[in-house]
Amino acid sequence: MGAGGCVAALWPFLASLSPSAQALALGAPVEADISKVAPGQQVTFVWRNQPVWVLNRTPKMLETLPKWDPRLSDPECKQNQQPAYCQNEHRSIKPQYLVMIGICTHLGCSPHLKAKFPDPTVQENWLGGYLCACHGSKYDLSGRVEKDQPAPLNMVVPPYRYKSDTVIQIGVDPSAEELKNLNAHAA
Ligand code: FES
Repeated sequence: MGAGGCVAALWPFLASLSPSAQALALGAPVEADISKVAPGQQVTFVWRNQPVWVLNRTPKMLETLPKWDPRLSDPECKQNQQPAYCQNEHRSIKPQYLVMIGICTHLGCSPHLKAKFPDPTVQENWLGGYLCACHGSKYDLSGRVEKDQPAPLNMVVPPYRYKSDTVIQIGVDPSAEELKNLNAHAA
């Protein structure tokens, strides 16, 4: 079926939805109130039918990231699995909050947060991160994958922007002005 047929088939379904549900089905940005995500806690939001995690990383959790580097397949995140404004050591706009699509890059399972460390039940010298129970892939607390795992790539960071200090819009990039401020802040 061509693209026109797909659209035609989709339309009766969309027309049956309320305007806000239609927008969500088409992938409109989703607003996530992160004000109640406690330090160390992760909350799941849904965007384009995918789980998007917001993890409030404590300073202790952030300290683990550089320790992971030698174990990782792509520590500098060169493989384009995040927007350019999140290609940094914490893979996020603000170091504290990780925003990431919670889907393993092997075959699409949803990994589990294993934030406590050490934890020999996950791995000797475990530093805290994510474990995919399907085939054992391990990621750090910014979704960077360990070397020699079934998963080939880091988990995906979606486009997002801060609408305010406590509300994130998932699915939309920061404005040019916001990006300028981010770059100035990072310099
Ligand atoms: S789906 Fe995650 S390791 Fe296979």
